[in-house]
Amino acid sequence: IPVDPFDLVIFGGTGDLARRKILPGLFRRFCAGQMTRDSRIIGAARGDMDETAYRDMVREAIAEFGPSRSEACAVEDFLSCLGYVSVDARGDDGWCDLKSALREEEGIVRAFYFSVGPSPLKKLAERLRQHGLAHDEVRIVVEKPFGHNLASARALNEELARHFDESQIYRIDHYLGKETVQNLMAVRFGNMLFEPLWNAQYVDHIQITVAETVGVSGRGSYYDKSGAMRDMVQNHLMQLLCLIAMEPPARFDPDAVRDEKLKVIRALDPVDPDQIVRGQYTSDGAMASYREDVENAASKTESFIALKCYISNWRWANTPFYLRTGKRLSDRASEIAVVFKETPHSIFGIDSGRHRNVLSIRLQPNEGMTLGVTIKEPGPGGMRLVDVPLDMTFAEALGPDAEEAADAYERLIMDVIRGNQTLFMRGDEVEAAWAWTDPLIEGWERRGDSPKPYDAGSAGPDDAAFLINRDGRRWRRIKS
Ligand code: BG6
Repeated sequence: IPVDPFDLVIFGGTGDLARRKILPGLFRRFCAGQMTRDSRIIGAARGDMDETAYRDMVREAIAEFGPSRSEACAVEDFLSCLGYVSVDARGDDGWCDLKSALREEEGIVRAFYFSVGPSPLKKLAERLRQHGLAHDEVRIVVEKPFGHNLASARALNEELARHFDESQIYRIDHYLGKETVQNLMAVRFGNMLFEPLWNAQYVDHIQITVAETVGVSGRGSYYDKSGAMRDMVQNHLMQLLCLIAMEPPARFDPDAVRDEKLKVIRALDPVDPDQIVRGQYTSDGAMASYREDVENAASKTESFIALKCYISNWRWANTPFYLRTGKRLSDRASEIAVVFKETPHSIFGIDSGRHRNVLSIRLQPNEGMTLGVTIKEPGPGGMRLVDVPLDMTFAEALGPDAEEAADAYERLIMDVIRGNQTLFMRGDEVEAAWAWTDPLIEGWERRGDSPKPYDAGSAGPDDAAFLINRDGRRWRRIKS
């Protein structure tokens, strides 16, 4: 279904995110007929560039990062919806040009995408108001990082609130746009099967893993100031944790969902330092070490983190949640595993043991779900039990269209145009997440802790295995 026609201004319109994700994503929505020809995309950045040069840049970006089946749709038609304006966020240049590039007609959605990092945000928001570009219906899209800690996130929220209502602010966490992440909600709340068991009485523990093979070269200056906790846990893993742990919202609407997520974050216990393992990758000979990648030989920033946390509420009391994420690991594999408790008693005798069901939700790659169930081993050898997977990949179950499903960014941008904030973070959510992570970060900074080295291409530092093994449990294998 096509969305309403829109004028979308992308500040940072020549930047990496715009070229890799935003513009190719919009092109796909254009090909899918969701973005109509009467919509406009206006790249805005400091550099001087005319419309033709901008369109050339976008054509190249689509060739490099766009859909493989682009011949199905005319790139030139899409490019004809594009314009470019040179704007100085800190000064006054370009704002009148931008204003005249926007349409005042009724029924045209106006959105500003701040794909610029946190520092120019305040100025941009001010300028939009000053120059009369931000009427009460406009929407702004803000990228992560949303602050560096609670104080800066709060300051940013206050700044934005001076110019925009919360209902106009779309804070992006692209994990919420991933197909499987939304499927978490569908699985939990669309089936009778799981929800009755989804609590401390039946669940032994939950593991959330986001493993990456990439390192941090090229983004060292940002990453070395952030580390895995700020870059991944405070936002992406926190969102996954919320969706897995939240109470059923009464409706699938923005505030109902976000209220429930917020309650989870606020119910998180502080984490003891001995329940956190930080790691930093070393060189494997072929590829550089973390410290080489960030060009800081004394860096104590973590490129890996594993931790155990608890949610103190009725549903999850005493159920451990093990979280881990890292760069330069053996495989790119993200998974949420709900590990159920053992059956209370084995009627088949001691040899068959007691078994556990595991529901694994694969976020990427091979998006899908596996439910580990216990059955009888075939053959005449008596009642011997064996664990087998009930396996489902979305692509197999739903056909090739599932693979062509919108990527996270394009889906979220369409939600902005539709005015649906369900998959965006509310200001209080972001602040609550920082309020939980800040003391953990301050703790290791105060103690001067160094991250544990781990080999690039491994599963992370040995201590991360110890973190879970000492509880009599083990990490699931990282495997793509
Ligand atoms: C970004 C982080 O938000 O998410 C990156 O800044 C990380 O460090 C990326 O690599 C992971 O996203 P995805 O979609 O590739 O899992």
